[in-house]
Amino acid sequence: MKWRYRDVWVYYTLELDGFGSRLARPFAQYLRQAGNPPYGRCLEWCAGPGFIGVTLLRAGLIKELVLADKNPALEPWIARTRKANGLDFTFYRSDNFQDIPADERFDLVVGNPPSYCNLNPDHPLFDARRDDPRPHDPDWTIHQAFYATVRRYLRPGGELFISEVEPHAVEVVLPKTGTSIPYDLRPEEPLRAFRRMIEGGGLDFVAAESYLTSGGVTFYVVRSGMPSFLTPETSRRQTATSSQSSRPPETPLR
Ligand SMILES: C[S@@+](CC[C@H](N)C(=O)[O-])C[C@H]1O[C@@H](n2cnc3c(N)ncnc32)[C@H](O)[C@@H]1O
Repeated sequence: MKWRYRDVWVYYTLELDGFGSRLARPFAQYLRQAGNPPYGRCLEWCAGPGFIGVTLLRAGLIKELVLADKNPALEPWIARTRKANGLDFTFYRSDNFQDIPADERFDLVVGNPPSYCNLNPDHPLFDARRDDPRPHDPDWTIHQAFYATVRRYLRPGGELFISEVEPHAVEVVLPKTGTSIPYDLRPEEPLRAFRRMIEGGGLDFVAAESYLTSGGVTFYVVRSGMPSFLTPETSRRQTATSSQSSRPPETPLR
């Protein structure tokens, strides 16, 4: 399959799409409005086929792109996307940062990681999804390893924009699956857990803001970054002591 943003095509199969084909445009719109583009070198963590990163690159919101994902099935599709568009970007097959070279440095990290920490065995999709690498991050272990490591890969002023599903909700229902049985049963509000990880990793939490509602589920960007005392230019950042909400953008990015 192929997916288009302007004149750029992203190649993929259905089972590699973690909803990024739907999120990429509103995510870029959010970054354009709420962030400080253009950014220099950007990592898309848990990149899948690279819908978000390729969109940011083509939209001119970043200057250099690095994609990273642990799934080896992505490699031929990513190679095809690079060749078909003549796009210059790097792909690392890597479990979190394990195989990303230690001397890589990023100005921006974005991602749409697995967003559910405790899939409900009573949900009809449980058997199909429990071993799928897209939705499931049991006990947030992938997030924990990420936030414990990411700071050493950031340049001064580095920022993170990570897409999450309903980070204030302890239960997530997916209306499109035709049942009110919760799909994910979280032991606590995920944002509390993310803030602990962010601050434990030596970063500042900035905000959690909604940017899209689709299929009855709201997607948020959880923003964090290098501590402001290390980052003069982040004085432009809108720092929040508690989470914030904003209406999703009404006009999709073209
Ligand atoms: C929700 S999907 C998102 C994929 C793509 N970013 C998108 O938006 O369509 C999550 C992605 O995280 C990847 N992933 C899961 N665990 C990972 C890990 N430990 N390290 C790196 N990538 C991981 C999966 O292979 C999958 O591509």
